[in-house]
Amino acid sequence: MKTDLISIAELGGDEISHLLALTARLKGDLAAGRPHAWLPGRTLALIFEKPSLRTRVTFETGMHQLGGDTIYLSPDDIQLGKRESVADIGSNLALWVDGIMARTFSHETILELARHAGVPVINGLSDMYHPCQVLADCFTISELRDDLSALRIVFVGDGNNMVHSWLHAAAKLSLDFTLVCPQGYEPDPDVLAKAEEAGTASLTVTHDVEEGTRGADVLYTDVWTSMGQEAEQERRRRAFAPYQVNQAMVEHAAADVVVMHCLPAHRGEEITAEVVDGPQSAVLRQAENRLHIQKAILAWLLGAKEAAL
Ligand code: CP
Ligand code: NVA
Repeated sequence: MKTDLISIAELGGDEISHLLALTARLKGDLAAGRPHAWLPGRTLALIFEKPSLRTRVTFETGMHQLGGDTIYLSPDDIQLGKRESVADIGSNLALWVDGIMARTFSHETILELARHAGVPVINGLSDMYHPCQVLADCFTISELRDDLSALRIVFVGDGNNMVHSWLHAAAKLSLDFTLVCPQGYEPDPDVLAKAEEAGTASLTVTHDVEEGTRGADVLYTDVWTSMGQEAEQERRRRAFAPYQVNQAMVEHAAADVVVMHCLPAHRGEEITAEVVDGPQSAVLRQAENRLHIQKAILAWLLGAKEAAL
């Protein structure tokens, strides 16, 4: 039976630990000049309804480093749901390729692809979730700090797809996670309720910047206007202005705070240049680790025997 990666909610804690350990091995071995061609003759299709730098390049490079191939399908190539139904695209692609990574507007499109494609489907960002990014971020934090669950992880910004994946990760890994957001920009209530019901994480949603960011071990932010929300940009700029991650906020956090951003960043909006390019920023390490976690995900889902749980 195939396994998809639609969201972190479907992963077991042991599977997450396995992926993080595999990522460390792949990263270390690549640095030591020992690449692993674990997926020879395998092909990954990449479907993009939205733009991407990191997700596209790390999946393509990762697949090539594992000895496999990729096929990039731009919005114009297949016109998901317009030229052809999502179901037909999924069932056809599965005849030729071994896995599908998709970045879509609607989360339902990813679910529909997964229902109709008999090969693993990986969510490369939907309006609801960005699981590969948050798995990479958990790996990044684990490189910098010993115990993830002992840290105050504070996300300042929109209760968006990134936050939903953080809520899933918090429930799975028993994290202490706070969202500091303006009123009206809270996460999806069902996602929050399910994470709370798991009873494993310490979760806080607050509008109070001062209270929410005090002593933070990790300060995370993301764009105020996600892809697909461009019409709301001006309203969002006004609502989020007091929520900028800047030097004053960094000084209010723990002395050794790690500053994180999934990128792309808008300097002068959600984060200042001084902070995103400053000494406490981990953003390039995060971006680098996207490659290593993608390889672990691909090796595991596409059935490399070396990557079996
Ligand atoms: N963080 C991230 O997913 O970047 P891209 O949008 O460039 O893929
Ligand atoms: N929340 C952002 C993340 C980009 C990687 C978006 O969906 O546009």
